[in-house]
Amino acid sequence: MQRVNKILDHPKFIDCLNKNAQAEKNRIFCCHDLRHAIDVARISYILALEENLSIPKDVIYAAAISHDIGRWKEYLEGVDHADASADLALEILEDSGYTSQEKKLITSAVRNHRNEGQQNSHMDKILYRSDKISRPCSGCLVINQCKRFSNGEEPQFDY
Ligand SMILES: [Fe+2]
Ligand SMILES: [Fe+2]
Repeated sequence: MQRVNKILDHPKFIDCLNKNAQAEKNRIFCCHDLRHAIDVARISYILALEENLSIPKDVIYAAAISHDIGRWKEYLEGVDHADASADLALEILEDSGYTSQEKKLITSAVRNHRNEGQQNSHMDKILYRSDKISRPCSGCLVINQCKRFSNGEEPQFDY
């Protein structure tokens, strides 16, 4: 997992997590911090194993830990954070030794993690699903105000 460690140590990656923390310091809902990123990475890897997908572990982790790095840009500039995260991830992935083909796979999954129905590759699909099921909603005090469940969606606790 050498390449994943390179991402985690990358100054731009660290800067994005700090900017997310700053932007979310008064947020009452779940945040977009390293814990969430790692939760999504682990669940994505479980899904890949369960579904016998042959996606390298460090590609799965790269997509998962990058998927919300541009969240701060959505708060500050009103842009879509999935697109912002994919754009920010490119340079970090390049510096961390990912190939052009891997970068395409990873940034596609990051770009398409948000809206249902936009997922094409297996990587897109497992990132979308793992992001959704990663939140520990049990006992949440603000679940009634959470935008995610305002449409009647039920929390899932499968992983
Ligand atoms: Fe997101
Ligand atoms: Fe997320």
